[in-house]
Amino acid sequence: MNHILEDLIEKTGLDLDANSIDSLQKEKEVQLLSSINIHKVAHLFTNPESYFFRSLAHLELVKKMSTEKTRIWFAGCSTGQEVYSASLMLSSISDKTLVGTDLSSKYIERALSGSFFVFRKSEIKSFEKYKLLPQCHLSTNKNKKSVDVKFSSIKREGILFDTHNLMDGPYSEGFDIVFCRNVLLHMTTSGAKKALASLKDGVKIGGLLIPGDTDPNIFEDNWERKKHNNVIFWKKKW
Ligand SMILES: C[S@@+](CC[C@H](N)C(=O)[O-])C[C@H]1O[C@@H](n2cnc3c(N)ncnc32)[C@H](O)[C@@H]1O
Repeated sequence: MNHILEDLIEKTGLDLDANSIDSLQKEKEVQLLSSINIHKVAHLFTNPESYFFRSLAHLELVKKMSTEKTRIWFAGCSTGQEVYSASLMLSSISDKTLVGTDLSSKYIERALSGSFFVFRKSEIKSFEKYKLLPQCHLSTNKNKKSVDVKFSSIKREGILFDTHNLMDGPYSEGFDIVFCRNVLLHMTTSGAKKALASLKDGVKIGGLLIPGDTDPNIFEDNWERKKHNNVIFWKKKW
């Protein structure tokens, strides 16, 4: 394995192979592998797939568990769809903070733009429910098969986006809920272990961790496994 690849796997925790860094080599970004620049090149080797109201049962659990002043961290949020989905679903909850973080600065810039082209039928249908909310403006395109969605008042809705590497510990501590889906499955065993430790450290005592379906179990006395409507999640007891 070449040292660039080894270095990248170490720095991101991702299960990369020579093909996944092909574009990076082509872009001659290889010398930019300091921890600062990893954010700038991460879009060249990460999978950004995300869409609105993905993991709906998990987002419904977030809604059920949220109260006034709830602080939620969406780790590995890509271009922000899960954060905006939660913000619509939690619109009646005041003083909430929804923090979305990702390794890639390009994805975070897109998230901050608040502008999305939505074409999946299921997403368009879900948006119908929220079309009267002032923070989300929908305009149907001429072919009626897609919708442009623009979110405004991001700050007023308590939404914040930032770059963050899960290999560097938690974004911050004391979150009521930490939500991280479809991220650890792209990592090596040791990368996923490190990322999981960061997620756990982000949760406050009494708070919840909602990971991906294939993410490792937590076999620690201070964590309780919980299940609600087939959603597995973890409560930090102390
Ligand atoms: C497939 S997307 C999932 C997006 C979203 N959570 C969802 O389920 O729709 C995986 C995201 O994890 C991010 N990611 C990968 N490694 C990361 C790391 N070490 N720290 C933070 N984010 C990471 C990628 O940049 C990518 O945006």
